[in-house]
Amino acid sequence: MGRRTKRAGQVVAIDGPAASGKSSAAQEVAGRLGFAHVNSGLLYRAVAWWALRKGIGDDPKLLGEALRATPFDLATERGSLVPRVDGALPGAELQSPEVTARASAIAKLPAVRDVVLRILRTTAVGRGTVCDGRDIATTVFPDAGLKVFLVADSKERARRRLLEHGTLPTPRGIAEEAKRLEERDRTDSSRDLSPLKRADDAVVIDTTAMRPSEVVDAIVALAVQRQSGD
Ligand code: CDP
Ligand code: CDP
Repeated sequence: MGRRTKRAGQVVAIDGPAASGKSSAAQEVAGRLGFAHVNSGLLYRAVAWWALRKGIGDDPKLLGEALRATPFDLATERGSLVPRVDGALPGAELQSPEVTARASAIAKLPAVRDVVLRILRTTAVGRGTVCDGRDIATTVFPDAGLKVFLVADSKERARRRLLEHGTLPTPRGIAEEAKRLEERDRTDSSRDLSPLKRADDAVVIDTTAMRPSEVVDAIVALAVQRQSGD
């Protein structure tokens, strides 16, 4: 395991709870550094999408066997790396509420985490990579050159998520979405395997009052600092 990690190119790991701003920041940071960007949450979402479509339940053994027998990798689509499962690119369907709910449940299963971990490590071999998720700095790339942990107030995260989905953020809507996000954070933080957790050596950035561009600037500055060995 260690050897595979060492052969990875330079890695910037960005973790944090749902809607803290990881993937949008990661995408921009990757562009600025000339690195590839991998949103690891999309891989868990892709497994959930595929299992829902195939009618595969949560039996860990059956699901693991079916997944290992299914072609699953990352494809480049309009310059982004996106999951391809069983020859299909699920695209926007990965953001449906059903997929979101199932993804957190499926992400607890060792067989699923194992497959995703291998894809992530393989993708980073020999190339600069910005990878965002929940366990990137703690488990997938423990040797990452830069580890960032993004946090934000849950009401602000809910407001962002509603806007992202084209919904007017009313106080009631925000409260309901914040509850869903907090519930998912609890599931992600309390599981035995690779829980959502800040790595000891991660830099914490609270994005609650920050514009997206400010978050990107802060991460790029840290990456440049690390590259120059300061
Ligand atoms: O975009 P959002 O933050 O809402 O979620 P996501 O990053 O797309 O991740 C969807 C789900 O996948 C999360 O709720 C986690 O359960 C799981 N996940 C994980 O377990 N480990 C990762 N490295 C990334 C995502
Ligand atoms: O990947 P994650 O679920 O952590 O969050 P995201 O998908 O990058 O961000 C969720 C939404 O919040 C996106 O529409 C971002 O543009 C927005 N956002 C924001 O308004 N302010 C920030 N500082 C960061 C993100």
